[in-house]
Amino acid sequence: TWTMLNIVEEQVEAIRAQVGEGRAICALSGGVDSAVAAAIVQRAIGDRLTCVYVDHGMMRLGETEQVRRDFEEVFDTLDVVDASEQFLGALEGITDPEEKRKIIGREFIRTFEAAEVRVFGDVAGGATAYLVQGTLYPDVVESGGGAGTSNIKSHHNVGGLPDDLQFELVEPLRTLFKDEVRAVGEQLGLPSTMVWRHPFPGPGLGIRIIGEVTRERLDILREADAIAREELTRAGLDRDIWQFPVVLLADVRSVGVQGDHRTYGHPVVLRPVTSEDAMTADWARLPYAVLERISTRITNEVREINRVTVDITSKPPGTIEWE
Ligand code: XMP
Repeated sequence: TWTMLNIVEEQVEAIRAQVGEGRAICALSGGVDSAVAAAIVQRAIGDRLTCVYVDHGMMRLGETEQVRRDFEEVFDTLDVVDASEQFLGALEGITDPEEKRKIIGREFIRTFEAAEVRVFGDVAGGATAYLVQGTLYPDVVESGGGAGTSNIKSHHNVGGLPDDLQFELVEPLRTLFKDEVRAVGEQLGLPSTMVWRHPFPGPGLGIRIIGEVTRERLDILREADAIAREELTRAGLDRDIWQFPVVLLADVRSVGVQGDHRTYGHPVVLRPVTSEDAMTADWARLPYAVLERISTRITNEVREINRVTVDITSKPPGTIEWE
């Protein structure tokens, strides 16, 4: 942890040098990377950092409340935006995975831009605005060596912002791997729900519903997902598993029987994986007893689901998510 402490101190110095008296904004996703990046920046520049958390309505059960509690504990300047109407409205009728991602990305940028206008709208011309990003070393390598400032261009023709406002990235985690980010997070005293949270994709449950995303389907998936996560935690396996997506095959139905009733419900897919960095992954050999409890509980407790399956595909050839 000496090294982790050094990393934090080094980064705090570097950020003070870079940002000077400027202001910064950070989009918090709820994940550990953006949270740790923002916490380091806050150490450096205090309340000249504004954190924005966008609730797109596709988070897991209780997650936005948890994220809000954790963040309010850590960040002085937090802007929680409830944009679920906007996101779910824009997704109506959309089934194609790439289209879903594009729409979610677009709505996110719109929401974030509005936050930027709130934060930077009154900045005098010629000033620099800083965007904090939780880019890790594997992301740097994967994108060919440099996020730099170029990849943010597309989202800065924003009405309401001074024309000559320059945007610059602040990326305090660029040399770190995930396990080091977690160590830094612990060093900084961040809540363990934040530090040990499994990775969760930006588009959230929107890409775990195969088919159109609707409020009703989100509710069904939320219930099943909460059971799976609860049983994983109860079995003490959270830290052995990289991620545990639960996927709702919303357009598929199969016949089942419960008591003396015929059922005609939807299947869910359990997708527990182990991984080092999400570039490759293996399906996790969860104990049968844990799988059994999850299956029994989901089919008993979630009326619309009558079948539970397990995905035993590694990555490659599968990806971790289904969309
Ligand atoms: P795949 O499915 O490609 O996922 O094996 C690799 C890792 O990336 C996460 N993921 C995303 N994260 N926005 C994100 O922030 C996204 O659009 C997105 N898609 C996938 C996925 O959960 C896994 O950890």
